[in-house]
Amino acid sequence: MLDQTVNPVVEDITAQVSSHPEFSNHMKVFQITDEASGLKARIAIHSLIEGRSLGGCRRWEYESDAAWNADILRLSRGMTRKSAVAGLPLGGAKAAINHGHPTAAMMRAFGRGIAMIETQFGMVYITAEDVGISEALLIEAKKETEHVRGIAPVQKDVELAGGDPGPYTAYGVFTGIKVAVKYRLGKESLKGLGVAVQGLGDVGYSLCEFLHKEGAKLVVADLDGERLQRAVDTFGAMPVMPHEILSMDVDVVAPCAMGGVLDENIRAPIVAGSANNQQKDEINNAESRSLKEKNILYAPDYVINSGGLISVYYEGETKEHVMGIISKQVEMTLDRIFMLSQKEGLDTATLSDQLAENLLQDKVSFETVFMARMVA
Ligand SMILES: NC(=O)c1ccc[n+]([C@@H]2O[C@H](COP(=O)([O-])OP(=O)(O)OC[C@H]3O[C@@H](n4cnc5c(N)ncnc54)[C@H](O)[C@@H]3O)[C@@H](O)[C@H]2O)c1
Repeated sequence: MLDQTVNPVVEDITAQVSSHPEFSNHMKVFQITDEASGLKARIAIHSLIEGRSLGGCRRWEYESDAAWNADILRLSRGMTRKSAVAGLPLGGAKAAINHGHPTAAMMRAFGRGIAMIETQFGMVYITAEDVGISEALLIEAKKETEHVRGIAPVQKDVELAGGDPGPYTAYGVFTGIKVAVKYRLGKESLKGLGVAVQGLGDVGYSLCEFLHKEGAKLVVADLDGERLQRAVDTFGAMPVMPHEILSMDVDVVAPCAMGGVLDENIRAPIVAGSANNQQKDEINNAESRSLKEKNILYAPDYVINSGGLISVYYEGETKEHVMGIISKQVEMTLDRIFMLSQKEGLDTATLSDQLAENLLQDKVSFETVFMARMVA
């Protein structure tokens, strides 16, 4: 029985968003509003595969309508590419709730809105966790729609994948850092190498755990003093100010906070972190190109951060199996992207965008696309 008190309004706002500079053939943009709870959410569906799309939901207080649209348009485009490169049969989408602290009632309305998108528009949007959205909030949304991932399955005698994707994303980033270090610095181990981690949230903190175990020396920054102190106490990390972290003189910088952070101040030979949309000018891959000119190896964001998506897709399978898929997938794709980038003289982001487009158009495997270019 539907709860009649949950009563959001879903609008198709594609036409009004289509003049935004980040709009690039998105299929639909929806707005969900709910007067009773105060929910204001937008969902951008960039592509559908077999009628489905997947992408997390974030919460943020946007300074303008245009900034809100920019975020969902960029993030959803990235999800299409991320799924394609990860070999998953899912279209790309992303949602953002424009609020600092979404409530349970807002999440119920959000979940109902997702169900209405399916019944009214015939499109499946599957939601999951992103910045600021907890598992507890997702559980509220799931009361209204089955299309929610990232809720921990009931554990049996073996540990199952699912729930918070952060640690899985971190594991993929950790694997990617090792691939980049081997490629760019010729080293098999991270022992003694300096890694600067920006953002110590779900992904960043978990990444620090993996790096610390492997013997890396950590430099860290976060806007949240408690999170910063925890990393200092637990890992002996060196704290620096948020504006200093990406220009540190280290071996690797790992942006694990918000997007649009790559700039000319980066000095480390490797950039490899989880943040989505790390470039400011993603359409032209301007930052990726200028990093390549400076011989800085950039691990494209949607390739290195696909571990969370993979864990969500394989939710319910054993954790060990899923961790194996993540490391194999990230290692294989990054390794090939670095190789092709060198062969063709193209920056890594342009190259992965091209590979993703080939995969989407030709519906062949990554290996087929890679080999065709490698022998060309
Ligand atoms: N969670 C996932 O599985 C996942 C998957 C793929 C990509 N990502 C991306 O990775 C990034 C981090 O995700 P998360 O889930 O860890 O988010 P989170 O909200 O848990 O953590 C983000 C952290 O960054 C800090 N922060 C924000 N601005 C900062 C700044 N200027 N300097 C230093 N610290 C700053 C915040 O205080 C917070 O501690 C995001 O860009 C997200 O889109 C996350």
